[in-house]
Amino acid sequence: MKTTTIQNIIDFKKLNQKFATITAYDFNSACLVDECDIPLILVGDSASMMVYGYSTTIPVTMEEMLFVVKAVTRGAKKALVVADLPFLSYQCSIKNTIENAGRMIKEGGAGAVKLEGGSHMKKHIQELVQIGIPVMGHVGLTPQSFHQMSGYSMQGKTPKGAQKIIDDSLAIQEAGAFSVVLECVPDALAKEITSLLSIPTVGIGSGKNCDGQIQVFHDVLGLSNSKPPKHAMGYKNLNKEISEALKDYKSAVENF
Ligand code: KIV
Repeated sequence: MKTTTIQNIIDFKKLNQKFATITAYDFNSACLVDECDIPLILVGDSASMMVYGYSTTIPVTMEEMLFVVKAVTRGAKKALVVADLPFLSYQCSIKNTIENAGRMIKEGGAGAVKLEGGSHMKKHIQELVQIGIPVMGHVGLTPQSFHQMSGYSMQGKTPKGAQKIIDDSLAIQEAGAFSVVLECVPDALAKEITSLLSIPTVGIGSGKNCDGQIQVFHDVLGLSNSKPPKHAMGYKNLNKEISEALKDYKSAVENF
């Protein structure tokens, strides 16, 4: 039984208490995050790049996501684990959404799912919530729409674009989602949406005014080869430290 519930996440906003959340993709990382009392772990479809080495989130499959979701839920004793629904696991039909979200809960052991998209996903979210599957929304920069967005860039910079993200956030709340990720939207827009919604906003690259923040595990720790995005704030460069440790091991063995 997890100690962090959906209601606890909603209460952070009511109590005006900012909260950190992070991704994880394996047992050991989940244990580490859990021991730090981070209340929510997202098994993001960023696993596509961070675990499986694809160049976007588009190729990762349900089976590949389930594999990492299961590992994380074995490690997270307290945190609420949210499983990201991969591209095409929920867009085709409501039946498709329910079946795949259900697998994340039933087989994966997750406590909630996340899916990308606004008003057009309202019905999907409503159906999931009605059958007892909590949903986290995701608007702004939605990486599964990489091609449609012509790459990754800040969203909602024009008045029309900003209004669309406001409308999408409200639609997600109305559908019954318990929180919404705001990815790469201007600080002022994130602030406005945060004050309009009664559910918590969780920002990434959207300034300090969201109720919570989320970052990719590898970016916070500097674990990957490539430079992390600026908003990850680069707390550490563990890639360098790991590489040095491996070289030390190699030369120690070679000089036995
Ligand atoms: O997949 C992911 O890691 C995400 C977060 C960055 C919000 O969706």
